[in-house]
Amino acid sequence: MNIAIFASGTGTNAKKIIEYFENNTQVKVNLIVSNKATAPVLDIARENGIDILVIDRHNFYKTQDILNFFNEYSIDFVVLAGFLLLIPSYLTKSFENKIVNIHPALLPKFGGKGMYGMNVHKAVHEAKEKETGITIHYVNENYDEGAIIFQAKCLIDTEDTPETISNKVRILEHEFFPKIIEQTITNQTET
Ligand code: GRF
Repeated sequence: MNIAIFASGTGTNAKKIIEYFENNTQVKVNLIVSNKATAPVLDIARENGIDILVIDRHNFYKTQDILNFFNEYSIDFVVLAGFLLLIPSYLTKSFENKIVNIHPALLPKFGGKGMYGMNVHKAVHEAKEKETGITIHYVNENYDEGAIIFQAKCLIDTEDTPETISNKVRILEHEFFPKIIEQTITNQTET
């Protein structure tokens, strides 16, 4: 199984996923896709000898060129790890139940357009939530609406700030995302 990771930002999750599958003989991360040529995640790809594809927004939506790259790299599974563009329907259709995303809150709360990064943690903080967490879900053509695969929770204390909430959530992301990707892939190959 070959995985393509899509990321627009720092790539701490991408790094954990790459490390997790490093010595796996069945599953390999062999492509990092980004819409930002300067995204730090691309340095992580370079450090790990993983090929990079920088996509242009217009091309991504108006052509299906990316499917040719996926063929070339024999991509079977796509992981969104901090990727900010909506996935076009030609891709969700060709990769049905083969694209997963991680969202830094307990969906269906605090999801949808504009709900990414610190925006999510600020909203959770302002709503005085008692708990938050992560949601790993399949991707369809709407933001944060695909079927939920896994959630993990953490408690929020009265003294928590959006930053400390973000730190708690990040710990859950790094702990669970690689494992849940592996489980999802394994379940699919067994059925
Ligand atoms: C994570 O919080 C993830 O939940 C969200 O985007 C962020 C990516 O962080 N989808 P990083 O670039 O992996 O550090």
